[in-house]
Amino acid sequence: MRIGDVDIGSGALLAPMEAVTDLAFRTVCEEQGAALTFTEFLSAQALTRGAVKATGRMWASLGGRRFAVQVFGREPEVLARAAQMAADIGASIVDINMGCPARKVTAGLCGSALMREPDLAARIVDAVRAALPASIPVTVKQRAGWDDLSLNAAGFARRMVDAGAALVTVHGRTRSQGFAGTVRLASIAEVRATLPRHIPVVGNGDVKSVADYLDMKRATNCDAVMIGRACRGNPWLFRDVRAIEEGKPVPAPPSITERRVVWRRHADLVVEYAAPKMALHELRKTLAWYSRGLFSGAELRHRCFAETNPSALLDLGEGFFARLAVREASHGSDLGEPPSPPETKCQERHARHLLGRAEEREPCDV
Ligand SMILES: Cc1cc2nc3c(=O)[nH]c(=O)nc-3n(C[C@H](O)[C@H](O)[C@H](O)COP(=O)(O)O)c2cc1C
Repeated sequence: MRIGDVDIGSGALLAPMEAVTDLAFRTVCEEQGAALTFTEFLSAQALTRGAVKATGRMWASLGGRRFAVQVFGREPEVLARAAQMAADIGASIVDINMGCPARKVTAGLCGSALMREPDLAARIVDAVRAALPASIPVTVKQRAGWDDLSLNAAGFARRMVDAGAALVTVHGRTRSQGFAGTVRLASIAEVRATLPRHIPVVGNGDVKSVADYLDMKRATNCDAVMIGRACRGNPWLFRDVRAIEEGKPVPAPPSITERRVVWRRHADLVVEYAAPKMALHELRKTLAWYSRGLFSGAELRHRCFAETNPSALLDLGEGFFARLAVREASHGSDLGEPPSPPETKCQERHARHLLGRAEEREPCDV
């Protein structure tokens, strides 16, 4: 697939996810076959004010791989300056967030709120396009619409392309849906049918398996698929999609050894690149993600809370995978998790947080 003049090859795209798609996560997904990765959304206001919290998250990629920086805001000139900052750190693509449903974003009339202001949204795309060299495409990530009464995905996407967007990603839900309910594949299909053929349309929402991936492509005719939540702890989904795209059989599920190696790679990248005060929390997240659905994963997650130094967490993970490898040798591939021990409400909440399920409970507060 080509985005403007940028050839990104085949495979699925990694969705931008706040507090998830940091350098470590993006690198692991790229190594497993993601065609393109996106940073979490960064506030254009905060970036241009030089706020350390925002600029500190503007990591380039490792190994010179292409990546997209996503920005959000509502003042065209501020977004244009933020886009230039993204270009300065080596972004190959600048993506503008027009789909975030979180109240903290829509209250400032940014994110998905821009779908109610297509004129302003078009001026933003135009300003960002004008601020960047022609070699850096500007892309837009939007939703199906604001709510059931304003399903304006196709008309809105058309305006963004006329203003200079080289690709449009559609998360097939409305802002009111948050992350609940079903994805409207028809909205994505309508965007694909409306935009000129040379503008790629990316379908997004609820793709959790190769079967979902194929369904999304078939039902919408989209040019590529973007995957978010399902690859937390399962970057092999990118490997599987790439195999399909290359006409190869889908590989067998990862063995325990492969899981350990990839988890450890992810954890080592966290230790190397995460801000020191965040490392502990980020390491707990990797363990929670990679242990999901595996035997004694719930116990591991409980034990994580008690550890307060990174090397103890690494040892905990190594021990977990070593025990699973022994179990794999005697039980074969039956590595599923038995019923968890009863959890207190607090433990449950904490585990859900680590597993990144907060958005499923509070769909409008990403
Ligand atoms: C924890 C979390 C953080 C997210 N942060 C962003 C973000 O920064 N920018 C964005 O455009 N979408 C964000 N999203 C939405 C995802 O990019 C994606 O559109 C959505 O999760 C649907 O795809 P999925 O079903 O494959 O997860 C976020 C989603 C989650 C779950």
